Parts: sequence; structure tokens; C-alpha cells
Amino acid sequence: MPLNALPAEGFLNRETELGYLKGLSGLKGSALGGNVLLEGARGIGKTELLKQLYCSLFRETAVVPFYYSFRTGNLKGTYFAKDYFTAFVRQYLAFTRKEPFTGGGAETLQRLLPAISSLGLHWLIDSVDDFQEHLKNSDAYWQIVTAISLPAVAAQQSGKQIIVLLDDFDAAEDLYEKNLGDVPGLITLFGESLQSSLCPHVMTGCAGALEAIFTDRSLIGMAERMWLGPLPEDLALDLFRTHLAHLKITSPPVEQLKFLGILRGNPLYLRNLAKALWKMGKRELTERDLIEGYSYEISDGETAFYWSSALNRAVKNPARRRPILKWLLQFLQDGGMEDGGRAAVIAGVGEAETLEALETIKRLGMIRGRDRVLQDFLRCLYMREVEGKKAGEAREKIEAQYLSKDAELCFEMVIPMSSNAELVVARAVEQIGKNINLDEEYLNYLQLALIEVCINAIEHSGSYDKKVFLKFIMRSGSLEIIVENTGRPFSLDSHKDLPAEEKLRLGIKRGWGFKLVYSIMDDVKIERVNDRTRVILTKKFKDKEVYR
Ligand SMILES: Nc1ncnc2c1ncn2[C@@H]1O[C@H](COP(=O)(O)OP(=O)(O)OP(=O)(O)O)[C@@H](O)[C@H]1O
Ligand SMILES: [Mg+2]
Repeated sequence: MPLNALPAEGFLNRETELGYLKGLSGLKGSALGGNVLLEGARGIGKTELLKQLYCSLFRETAVVPFYYSFRTGNLKGTYFAKDYFTAFVRQYLAFTRKEPFTGGGAETLQRLLPAISSLGLHWLIDSVDDFQEHLKNSDAYWQIVTAISLPAVAAQQSGKQIIVLLDDFDAAEDLYEKNLGDVPGLITLFGESLQSSLCPHVMTGCAGALEAIFTDRSLIGMAERMWLGPLPEDLALDLFRTHLAHLKITSPPVEQLKFLGILRGNPLYLRNLAKALWKMGKRELTERDLIEGYSYEISDGETAFYWSSALNRAVKNPARRRPILKWLLQFLQDGGMEDGGRAAVIAGVGEAETLEALETIKRLGMIRGRDRVLQDFLRCLYMREVEGKKAGEAREKIEAQYLSKDAELCFEMVIPMSSNAELVVARAVEQIGKNINLDEEYLNYLQLALIEVCINAIEHSGSYDKKVFLKFIMRSGSLEIIVENTGRPFSLDSHKDLPAEEKLRLGIKRGWGFKLVYSIMDDVKIERVNDRTRVILTKKFKDKEVYR
């Protein structure tokens, strides 16, 4: 495929939108419209829809698709013009020859000339000559105009409709000639191309920012809006389970996937969560795993990265970050523009900041709908940046919102990585075991098992912070012990199955103790959370053994 799109069978629930967009050329031909502003929440699948449309048209012959993303482009006018012009020529040639794009992105126009000649596209050679003339004269304005008008010229000359797919179009508002902001409004140069009866346009980007372009500027009335909604619940579940299957993660029964509801059918969030679970080493999911994966995702995962990049782009001044963060959080929790003013007062943010924050919200595409994931991301960031909480602490607070309120008792301890520290753990376990009336023999085994895990953490991790973090969580019916440390990842499994002689040769005779760990616990899991290895040991109790 010419663009890096999903296989058609993995692209869910957009048949209607795809069908409508494919029919745009007909609408344009009969002057019934033909330009669409494709709007939707962040990550909802706008780019993917453009790519699917592209691929679908590419397979046919009637309409030539041209895709351009402003996100990746440099917004300096001369750079943009050359990039846009060359991208069009490459894609036009690829379509004509029904071959994927030739060469790398850096291919020069000059090198494309033989291919253009061999196809007998003389009008395109003329256009290239024109463009090169403007390059030679260093005439930035005409370079931009010539590039933007190329699809319309091509449609005119070839007699074929050309559909122009402009992704992240709101970024085009920042196009400039030499220095940022020197010639505002270059985006309006697209007006002529939009009017061409042979060139339907589909433009996407951040909803708020796009709307502003089409209401305040000379582009008003040139496009209709199409809103891309979330995937319906059942399809969102299907998509998530498909991702899990690809990652070889066993999915829990559907009843345990209810938590996914908070992702509101957003394919980006669904994909990111599945990947996070995989990165954490989760292979057989429970509902609790989902919640842990989620909290990781919004604190340190791809979703966190996605939103913090957006936040950094919108709030360039670091001094403004904290008040705006506070404001945003308040704003999203109150859930409405009307309450915005009140929230500003509560957060103690002045008028200037309020305006700036509003602009931020618009640029981030947060304006519509309540996005729980975004809220949790901001809460987590707030806890870390404003309240000074550690990542783990912030994550726990997020998790606590979603974990069922099963009565639980929790002890935490941190031991130094020094010799005999594990014995302190053994003593602690003894006390905990007594408190919850654990069987004495079992308690002995548990101590040995835990000593094993701690020694492993101490000896093999190569950790610099020289600490092992332990947590004992007692719920009615189960005891969970979490041992966490930074440093080299390890796998109990690799020790478990080695023959005894091999273990002796490798000097890991203590690895035998892991057999004990496996035999006395009901579940042993090893995960990675960033640079930490986390071993989770779970023991379930039958009614009589329950500690209370
Ligand atoms: N209908 C769909 N079915 C399955 N997966 C999808 C669908 N739509 C999008 N995706 C996947 O979801 C992820 C996010 O999609 P995409 O990048 O198109 O969102 P977007 O709306 O363009 O986001 P942004 O606001 O960041 O531009 C991608 O990995 C994409 O492949
Ligand atoms: Mg996109």
C-alpha cells in the first residue's frame, strides 16, 4: 500500500463515512458541495480514515488521491512549498503507474523528471519548470501559490478529479515566509484550490482550531462538517481483544472488560492500553491488570506522551504550566465553558491566564465531550508536578478510583540492598502472617520464598538506587506480595526449567528456591514498569483459612 494504513479488515465501523467521502467528487462535479472538514476527538481515527480513503481510491482509477500532513512538515513557506509540490508529483506518478511511491521523501524534482517524461505528462513538466523558476528567483510567495494550486492545475490538465486530503490542517495556520508569524493568513491561499470544481478537499485537525479557521477567515462557507464519533462499545471490545490476541495476551471474560468503557471507544487509547499491558509483561489479564495498565499508560505510557507533547506545544512558557494545569483540571472536572469563569476563580488564575488556558484547550482539541482519560492524565501530572508526588503514588491514587472497594489492609516497606536485609523481610512476614492467622508451616515456606525473591533482586538487578520495595496487600480471601526494584529485568522462568547441573555451572543454585515460590503461591507474575522489575506473588485462601 502506498500509505502506511491499517489492513482494511482491521478498520472498524467507518463504512458510512468512507462511502460518503468517496462520493465527494460527484458532489463537487454537481456543485452540491465537495469539501469536508473532518472533525473528531483526538485519536478517534481522523488520519486513519484519510489513509483508508486514499488506499481505496488508489486501487481504482477514477479519482486521484493526494495526501499531505502538516504535522510532519516544516512550516517555513519555502520548505512547505517544495515539500508539498514534490509530494504531489510523487503521489501523482505513483497513482498513474499504480506503484508505491518511488524513492525516499527527499527525492528531488529534478530526479522525477525522467519518470514524468516517460509518462508523457508534458503539462506536469511545465509546472515543474514554473516552480523551479520561482525557486531560482527566491520568490517565496509564488512558490507557495504554485505548490498549493498544483492539484487543481493537474485536475484541469488531466481531466481527472483529484481529491486533496489535508491532515492536521490547523497547523497550516502557522505557515510563515521567513520568520514565525511574519505573514499571517497564508492558509487562506488554499481558498482557490478549495473552489476548484475538480478538486474535492477533506481537511482534518484539532476540532476547535479548524472551526476557527473556517469561521473567522476568508475560507468561510467553503466546507461542510463531518463529525467522527467513537467506536460503539461492542466494536471497541472487539478491537481491544484483537490487539490482545496479536500481542499474545489472554483476554479475560467480557464482564471483566467493563473498565474499558472509560476509554469511550477511542481507538488510540484502546491500542495504547493493549500495548502498555504487553510492555508490562501481563499475559493473562484480570480486571485489576487492566486498571494497573491504564494507570501506567496515563502516567508514563504512550497516552501520557501523546498528551504531554500536546500540552508542551500549547503552553510554551514553563512558568505558565502550573496555573494552566490547575485551571485545565478544574475546567475538565466542572465540565463546561459556562463554569470556566468560576473554575478560574477557584484555581486562583487571573484573566490573562484564563484566556491563555482557553486558547490552550482549543488548540489541544479538548473542547468537546468529556474525556476521562485526559482528565486522569492531567490529574496524574498535577499530582506529580504541583503536589510533588512520586509517579507510583500518583498512579495508585488513579487506580484507587477504579478498583473495587474490597476491604484491604496494606503494608509497605523499603529495604536496602545490603546483606541480610532479606532477613528483615522474613521477620516482617512472620509478624504479618501471625496477624492474619496464617498456618505456621505455610508461613515458614512463605518466608523462604520471599527471601529468595529479595536475594534475587539484591544480587542480580545491578540497580543503582540499591533499594527493594515491598508491599503486602491483604484482602478477604487473598494475600498479594509485590516486590519491586530498579535494574536489570529477570525472569523466574529462565531459572525454573534449567537442569540442576546447569544451575550449578551458572552459579545460580539458589534459583532452585524459585521452585518453592511457584509451588506455594497460586500465581507468580513478573512485570516491567519502566525500569522496574515487579514480582507479584498471590496466594488465595479458602474460607476457613481467611484471616478475618
Ligand atoms: N476505525 C478504526 N478501527 C481500528 N483502528 C483504528 C480506527 N481508526 C483509527 N484506528 C487506529 O487508532 C489510532 C489513532 O488513529 P488516528 O491517528 O487516525 O487518530 P487521529 O484522530 O488522527 O488522532 P490525532 O487527533 O492525534 O490526529 C491509530 O493507531 C489507528 O490505526
Ligand atoms: Mg491525526
